[in-house]
Amino acid sequence: MNPKKVTAPSVKSMKSKDRIGMITAYDYPSAKAADAAGADVILVGDSLGMVVLGYPDTLSVTVADMLHHTRAAARGTTHALLVGDMPYLSYHLSIEESVRNAGEFIRAGAHAVKIEGGKPQRIKTIEAILDAEIPVMGHLGLTPQSIHAVGGFKVQGKQLDAARAIVDDAVALAETGCFAIVLECVPDAVARIVTDSVSVPTIGIGAGRHCDGQVLVYHDLLGLEDRIKPKFVRRYASMKTDATAAVARYAEDVRAGRFPSSDETYHVADDVAEALGLFGAAPA
Ligand code: KIV
Repeated sequence: MNPKKVTAPSVKSMKSKDRIGMITAYDYPSAKAADAAGADVILVGDSLGMVVLGYPDTLSVTVADMLHHTRAAARGTTHALLVGDMPYLSYHLSIEESVRNAGEFIRAGAHAVKIEGGKPQRIKTIEAILDAEIPVMGHLGLTPQSIHAVGGFKVQGKQLDAARAIVDDAVALAETGCFAIVLECVPDAVARIVTDSVSVPTIGIGAGRHCDGQVLVYHDLLGLEDRIKPKFVRRYASMKTDATAAVARYAEDVRAGRFPSSDETYHVADDVAEALGLFGAAPA
């Protein structure tokens, strides 16, 4: 575990030296667990729309939703770099509104923001956010806020032109000043070329092992989300199964009168019980 407070510059300096462990978290307990486990970067991802709020994709998530969860995650984070994910339409309408929204994430306790895409208009927005002293993490490959434009949750960069476009966009993001770039669902060869072409760390999710770091969604890693299991997810626990079994046992204990036990109950002293008439015949 990295003993020092992680910052955007320290993440950048990990390039080619230390692999970066990043995970999403969406509230106080998940951020606290991720932080205590030694994650370098905690992302309050807009994936919360799917794994916490139950939407089919991330497009319904608002700035207000994200700020609410960012504040909670910030209260659970002491060591990791906390990155707030800017949701759909929060950085698309005007540069001024984008900078203001990015600033709200910082006021909510994030140390940086993440933005999807790398086309010229996006670069201008990122420049303005950087100019407001807010570190920016880029995100290329499958950008879930573009699912309707690209036709679904699909691996990106399989064809030559698309692969080249990802490399070019990554170079542009790094040159603009992003401190790291997430690469989502791209073939490992493309991730490798990007990683070798940019001076900032790449952090992969479904992008193979050549990236400078990896990120997974908290609920996927812990087996809390089981509607779909993308190929790149490795489950380290079965928390949904365990939680369901635990709640079932609790409900059975309640129905059978086994919960609560005397040890799980507050009692008055005997003299008080006697004065209350509790040692008499049990009520009918
Ligand atoms: O929202 C999210 O969780 C993300 C990660 C998949 C990188 O953007």
